[in-house]
Amino acid sequence: MDRENIIYLFLLVLTFFTLQTSTASQMFVSHRHLVGEWRLLHESIGITAMHMQLLHNNKVVIFDRTDFGHSNLSLPRGRCRYNSHDLALQKDCSAHSVLYDIVSNTFRPLMVQTDTWCSSGAVLPNGTLVQTGGFNDGDHIVRSLAPCTDENCDWFELPRTLVQRRWYSTDHILPDARIIVIGGRKQYNYEFYPKNSRGDSAFSLQFLKSTLERYENNLYPFVFLLPDGNLVIFANTRAIILNYKENQVVRELPSIPGDEPRNYPSTGSAVLLPLDENRPMEAEIMVCGGAPRRAYRYADKYKMYMKALSSCGRINVIDDHGIWEMETMPTRRVMSDMLILPDGDIIIINGASRGTAGWNNAISPVTTPVIYRPNVRRDNRFSIMKAASRPRLYHSSAILMTDGRVLVGGSNPQEYYNFTGVEFPTDLSLEAFSPPYLARKHSHLKPTVLSIDEILTYKSSFSATFTVPTFLRIGTVSIRIIAPSFTTHSFSMNQRMVVLKGVVVVAISDNSYKFTAFAPSTKEIAPPGYYMLFVVHAGIPSSGVWVKIQDST
Ligand SMILES: *[C@@H]1O[C@H](CO)[C@@H](O)[C@H](O)[C@H]1NC(C)=O
Ligand SMILES: *[C@@H]1O[C@H](CO)[C@@H](O)[C@H](O)[C@H]1NC(C)=O
Ligand SMILES: *[C@@H]1O[C@H](CO)[C@@H](O)[C@H](O)[C@H]1NC(C)=O
Repeated sequence: MDRENIIYLFLLVLTFFTLQTSTASQMFVSHRHLVGEWRLLHESIGITAMHMQLLHNNKVVIFDRTDFGHSNLSLPRGRCRYNSHDLALQKDCSAHSVLYDIVSNTFRPLMVQTDTWCSSGAVLPNGTLVQTGGFNDGDHIVRSLAPCTDENCDWFELPRTLVQRRWYSTDHILPDARIIVIGGRKQYNYEFYPKNSRGDSAFSLQFLKSTLERYENNLYPFVFLLPDGNLVIFANTRAIILNYKENQVVRELPSIPGDEPRNYPSTGSAVLLPLDENRPMEAEIMVCGGAPRRAYRYADKYKMYMKALSSCGRINVIDDHGIWEMETMPTRRVMSDMLILPDGDIIIINGASRGTAGWNNAISPVTTPVIYRPNVRRDNRFSIMKAASRPRLYHSSAILMTDGRVLVGGSNPQEYYNFTGVEFPTDLSLEAFSPPYLARKHSHLKPTVLSIDEILTYKSSFSATFTVPTFLRIGTVSIRIIAPSFTTHSFSMNQRMVVLKGVVVVAISDNSYKFTAFAPSTKEIAPPGYYMLFVVHAGIPSSGVWVKIQDST
């Protein structure tokens, strides 16, 4: 070999390695020094954002409770609610629910008839929100809200439907399109909506009783549907795998290390980390924050606010020998929300560093969100974001919006929507947090979906076209779907991300590309219904587009 050839060969090898490393580093563009942006959307929407659900028409259903006096928003056309059961007002002409339009940044009042306080919900495959339970005259009620394109949709209340009272329960949509409603105050059982043809009643779940303490610590259990069709249910410090079809506990997981409770009122939060169809299936849950056992009593009785927990644990729940891997957040947190972002990272947002859930039971708000990157080196997973200007304590909430921003609202509603005389008064505002992937610096890498097959059939391939100003390389594109969550009390019910498999990208013209990918393999991986689909290029997500996943017809 002559000298020229050796140099050529050397350059070739060098190029090869450079390409390899650039592929790896370009998978995630650097967000270093970027801490996100906050924007106030509304100083007041008239109610507190205690519960939030995004629908596939890009509108967010928000509601608090009916028995708290007049809100700061009137019902339209002189309507009033006359309810002799109401604890505060027998005649109430104010709204306790609104429909927020994320595109126009406007909202309008909705009307609920019975008390929705501390309730739960899930979205049916056809996009209708089903809300279950509440308090007082609302605790056996099922309400629905079907998305509409005009101004006419409103709550619809079914007559007393639930078998048991459901207050602080958790809902999950199931592969067969039913909703399971689990637990609630003094309820050690679960039931389904709608009932099957035999009109089943409630099924006992001893686990909820055995995790109950004097100050509860097991309400709003963290529930996730697993790829094998079972549910994982976490309450207090423990978790079980439940075969709900047979009413059988398949397995108990090890308790989370530290013996400190994670559920209401020691409210931590939890997510199912993204399910990735490109790898052997794992299902990892991650639980973060919470408050020590005595925190509720100390806050409630003595106005002493114990330090919240700073630990997170994650465990692969479909591995029979899975163990908890513990990590430490940059700050202690109770009442924080955990949301899956379109790039697969987890944001931990809202909450306090002292105290517990419940009225005026917390101080020292933690206004800095934290982003957790599940798949990088252990010592490099958490980054601290920009601080918000307002506290978000009890009864605050957060959800992911279609455009990748996080919608944040609510905090500390006081009786009669009282705004004075307390350290943390009722907060009626709505804010949006834009994570670093929305920074202008990255806009040349941000894909825009041009057209897509809106109906996805299980296991089938589908395609979409998109543009991106600067396309890096094919290996940097992933396609991810996220189920919009029903969020309340720091837990996002039904939230899940699936990373789709078989992604192939081809160029169709300058700056425009076509991808094909496979819809989720099974209903257990992704129950039927509406999802936000994101094209993620070099770590930068497109805005979400709605797709509907269903059986072939
Ligand atoms: C509530 O409404 C009243 C009357 O419209 C207004 O003066 C007040 O500023 C509002 N408060 C909040 C927090 O929105
Ligand atoms: C959605 O499905 C539910 C349950 O099958 C049904 O009651 C409801 O009418 C449907 N809504 C729409 C808008 O089709
Ligand atoms: C609001 O709360 C303060 C402090 O508890 C109290 O003095 C005041 O009377 C309350 N106002 C209303 C309208 O309830």
